[in-house]
Formats: sequence, C-alpha cells, structure tokens
Amino acid sequence: MRNICVESIKGGFNLELTDIAPDKSISHRCAMFSLLSDRTSSIRNFLRAEDTLASLSIAKKLGAKIEDKGIEIKITPPSKLQEPDDILDCGNAGTGMRLFCGLLAGVEGSFVLTGDNYLRSRPMKRVTAPLQSIGAKIDGRQNGNLAPLHIRGRELKPFSYESPIDSAQVKSAMLLAGLRADGKSRYKESFLSRDHTERMLRGMGVEIETDDEGWINITPPSKPLKPLDIRVPADPSSAFFFAVACAIIPNSRVNIIDVTLNPTRIEAFKVLENMGAKINYYLKEDIYEPIGDIEVIYNGELQGIEVSQKIAWLIDELPALAIAMATAKGVSRVSNAKELRVKESDRISSVVKALRACGIDVEEFEDGYAIKGGKFKRATINSFGDHRIAMSFAIAGLLCAMEIEDIDCVATSFPNFFDILSQITEIAQ
Ligand code: S3P
Repeated sequence: MRNICVESIKGGFNLELTDIAPDKSISHRCAMFSLLSDRTSSIRNFLRAEDTLASLSIAKKLGAKIEDKGIEIKITPPSKLQEPDDILDCGNAGTGMRLFCGLLAGVEGSFVLTGDNYLRSRPMKRVTAPLQSIGAKIDGRQNGNLAPLHIRGRELKPFSYESPIDSAQVKSAMLLAGLRADGKSRYKESFLSRDHTERMLRGMGVEIETDDEGWINITPPSKPLKPLDIRVPADPSSAFFFAVACAIIPNSRVNIIDVTLNPTRIEAFKVLENMGAKINYYLKEDIYEPIGDIEVIYNGELQGIEVSQKIAWLIDELPALAIAMATAKGVSRVSNAKELRVKESDRISSVVKALRACGIDVEEFEDGYAIKGGKFKRATINSFGDHRIAMSFAIAGLLCAMEIEDIDCVATSFPNFFDILSQITEIAQ
C-alpha cells in the first residue's frame, strides 16, 4: 500500500492539459461493443488503466483478437463469442461487471464474473434482478446480489422495463441484453443517465430511439453491427480534479483539451461555474459524442451552493466538488445522492470523514451532506481504496499539504494523475 504527501503551492498555475486520462465509460464500452460487430474496430486513445484493461482482457478471453499498436488498439471479434476456460476478472470496475452481465446473459455458455474485494461487496441485484425477469440465468452470493456471479447464457425475452434507479450501468446492461432478445424491447428511467451506450450503439447501426415519453426503444439487429472507429475523448470526471484546483487557487487557469462535452457528463463544471469560477466551453467536433475544450479560470472566492438536481450527471464528481464546497463562502449542501453510498467506497461517509480530518465542519445525511466553507488544515487521509477520494484530497493538498494513504487505487482510472499534479507543484512553487 503506497502513501503520498502532496505539498502545498504558493502561486497559481497556467496549464494546457493534453494528457488527461481518456474517458473510462467510453473505453469500457469500446472493449465490449467491439464484440458486437463482425469486423475489426479501431480504438484510438483507449484508457490504459486497470479498470478498462480488465474489460479488454475479458474481451480477449471471450475470443477477440487484440492488436495493440500503441496509439491504436484494433479489436477483431470472434465469429461467435467463446465460453472462456477461466473466470472473468473485472478488477475494481462496477461498469465492467454490470455491463458484461447484460452482454453475456443472452450468449450461449457459462461465464463467471468476479472482481477485487471492493467490487465483490457492491450491489449487483440492480442488474441481475431485471435480467432474471427477462429469462437470464444469473446467480451469486446473497441470492444473486454479490459477485462472483455465474451466468448461464440463454434466450432472453423482449421487455418493457421501468427502472427504479437512474443508472447508466443498469440501463446499458438491459440494452445490451435487449440486443439479443427475441423481439423489440423498451427501457425507461426517471432522469436520463449518461447516454454513451445509446450514442455508440446508434453509431454502430442499432435501431435505438427515445420517444416523447422517455422510453428507449431498441430493436435487435438483423445483421452484424458496424465496427467502431473512434478516438476516445478525455474523461471529464478525471479533468474535473484540475478544474477544482484551478477554481480554488488564485491566478490559475487550465485548458482541458479534447474532452467529451456530453451534457450528461459535464454538469459538475456547470455547478462550479454557478459557484463563481469562470468556465468556457469550445465545441470542436461531434462524432458519437460532442468533443471540445474546457477552459477554467480562477475568478475569486467561490460561493456555497445547493446541489439536489441532475445528480446522475455529476455523481462521480461529487467528491472533488466537496473540496470546492469546503473552500466556498457559506454552507453548501448535496442531497438526493444516496447512490454515493454504493460507489467504489461509501462516498458520503468517506467524504465526511476526510473533510472532518481536515478541520472542515460537515453534517452527514443519508442522501448527502452539508459542508460549511472554512480553511483546510493538513491531515492524513484514508482513501478507503477509492480513486476519487484519493485524487480529491490530493487536490486539497495544494492548499495546505496533505498525506494521502493507499493511493494505488488511482491506477484504476487515472494512472498519470500524480504526474500532472507534480507539473502543477513545479510551476507554482
Ligand atoms: C458509469 C455510470 C455511473 C458512474 C460510473 C460509470 C458508466 O454509474 O458512476 O462511474 O460508465 O455507465 P451508475 O450509472 O450506476 O450511477
């Protein structure tokens, strides 16, 4: 277990960020969706982090041929997905495990999905129950709620499913199952979660449309899907750590290059803007996703804010946003965010404990927290093995130095995070 000490900086920084980690959600989907075509997909800028490499290695175990040419990865699917001779290890990745459940539920064969000790304690019933209701045979500990999960692929029924939670992982698992069902299916959520699956499948030729009432209608394809030809944009959730750094450190500016501007992913930037940071968005292209640059400029002390809406659009950024809230004037409050409790750690509890260690006044609620803006003091922070907690408090370290324990988890999503952080500390000394 590695720890790190982040040193505080005295001045601001001005950086063009061209090396933010590629998008994790899109990279997972590239590894998986390539299996749905009959031709070779070309993926540029694939995220080489533990979570997404686990998905790529599962694609290989299912029979795909992977040619790694450095900046490009070519994935050629087998003519029929193979039954692997070993377990499929998703590592720390909830997205990997939940989406593979949907992808494999209708594939002939026996598949065992497992993961690390954190993933094996996260709830899977949210995908296994709706999949079971359409005929999937999936079992696991606690009646199919905990991995390892065993899937015995078989024929699936078409469905009309209204999800009780707004989750892109549940939605994607069901849509992937819908591709193999015996007829048209439909899926509805009360608030649109990130929509990479819909966009990418549509780009591959799937008939998938959302009607006026919010039902996503999906038709199983009658012919193999087109391969992916994609350059993965930078991940806004990873970029957001540096947006927060910029918003809280006087005389700072960052320009984040080629990041997805998908509205379901950049809500946290909008909140930071409403707190007072100056943010500009520059749309450059629209292939599968809108992609462009985001410029963040320090604009004085931030103001406290209430966040209770569009939670699915900023769920992953809430830990980093908590750092901005802790420096803001007045009280900020996050509510309707109970989902935070079942992420890589219980992020309500992790954020509250870590902020308290830094001398910040926080009140904990079942569905969020209230943070009174104050002054950070140097502390030792337990990451609870959660990459976003480790990176958020490393950013707070720029203000007052911070010891972060157990930083290995950062490699699950953003292996070069500390390299970029040290560029900032070097520039700003
Ligand atoms: C993801 C969806 C989100 C997000 C996760 C990645 C995805 O989870 O928190 O990091 O790629 O579909 P939920 O949709 O389950 O909230």
